[in-house]
Amino acid sequence: MKFTLEKKDPQSKARAATMVTDHGVIETPIFMPVGTVASVKGVHQRELKEEINPDIILGNTYHLYLRPKLDILEAAGGLHKFMGWDRNILTDSGGYQVYSLSANRKIKEEGVKFKSHIDGSYHFFTPENVMEIQRTIGADIIMAFDECTPYPCDYNYAKRSMHMTHRWLDRCMSHLEKLPFKYGYEQTFFPIVQGSTYKDLRKQSAEYIANAGAEGNAIGGLSVGEPAEEMYAMTEVVCDILPEEKPRYLMGVGTPINILENIALGVDMFDCVMPTRNARNGMLFTAHGTINIKNKKWEADFSPIDEMGITFVDTEYSKAYLRHLFAANEYLGKQIATIHNLGFYLWLTREARKHIIAGDFTEWKNMMVKQMDKRL
Ligand code: GUN
Repeated sequence: MKFTLEKKDPQSKARAATMVTDHGVIETPIFMPVGTVASVKGVHQRELKEEINPDIILGNTYHLYLRPKLDILEAAGGLHKFMGWDRNILTDSGGYQVYSLSANRKIKEEGVKFKSHIDGSYHFFTPENVMEIQRTIGADIIMAFDECTPYPCDYNYAKRSMHMTHRWLDRCMSHLEKLPFKYGYEQTFFPIVQGSTYKDLRKQSAEYIANAGAEGNAIGGLSVGEPAEEMYAMTEVVCDILPEEKPRYLMGVGTPINILENIALGVDMFDCVMPTRNARNGMLFTAHGTINIKNKKWEADFSPIDEMGITFVDTEYSKAYLRHLFAANEYLGKQIATIHNLGFYLWLTREARKHIIAGDFTEWKNMMVKQMDKRL
């Protein structure tokens, strides 16, 4: 993977860069749509590619390992071929889903024993086997196996957990060295900074992760219920330590405002279920605030979903029609809302990039944050 820093914003720590992998160019800042089980829920690959147009999407080790399982992914020739997506993919390691989804998980130094949320079967993830699993899934960017601490988190627990995540990182890296690429293209490995909401731990973790010398770095354990100001404070401490010449990925973040504020602190990559999950509940993100399309106020509003027309759904359908689809519980409603929200998130990060390159990012960001902080 080749990372080239193109432009730095003079008034903040925002940057525009490009990453090049064997599956193409990723222009940053970027939002990566979440495709947990080898599908961005409800969106055809053609719509994803042509309308939403992300350079990279996300998959999840935990889910893909449980279903369709590794033998199927390997027989398909990896996840790209299996799902018909020829651009970049990043897989999360399971270091989050194991804690949030599975019942009866038991964390030990060796790894995590967990019970499948699908059929109740027991499994064991270790730093070593998670690297093997991610080699088989075959994403372009693969993540270290970590523990994502909850919020709030007792200081001593956060400290012990952070040290274990660091030991797990060493195990991930020494095992990965022994594992060849499976499908003729390279994979890039990102370690993850932890440390909960404690500045001293975050600093220590960022130093440890920076020293590991990986090609890119991630920040985990945020957007787990802490106030936004605490999240920004942690991102700031960490970004100031992580190397400038490597990409920084903030995991699981966030609202459009969170994304812009974290770009200003030096983050390059984001993912979050919010645009897709909230879409399925009728919540639309726009440049002028959020819309609850189920609200009666839209019943006879025949104006376009979004005058900006970022994707075709925005101008081909009206708010009243979309509200009707939600009221009638039609699949199409969820699909339209998902395409709209993802289109908006990708527009937002592309626009951020344009303003960084033009040199007026901070001014634009402050205007957008004010403008988006509304319910319509
Ligand atoms: N997704 C959101 N937060 C995290 C985290 O802390 N670790 C991992 N592995 N994935 C995440």
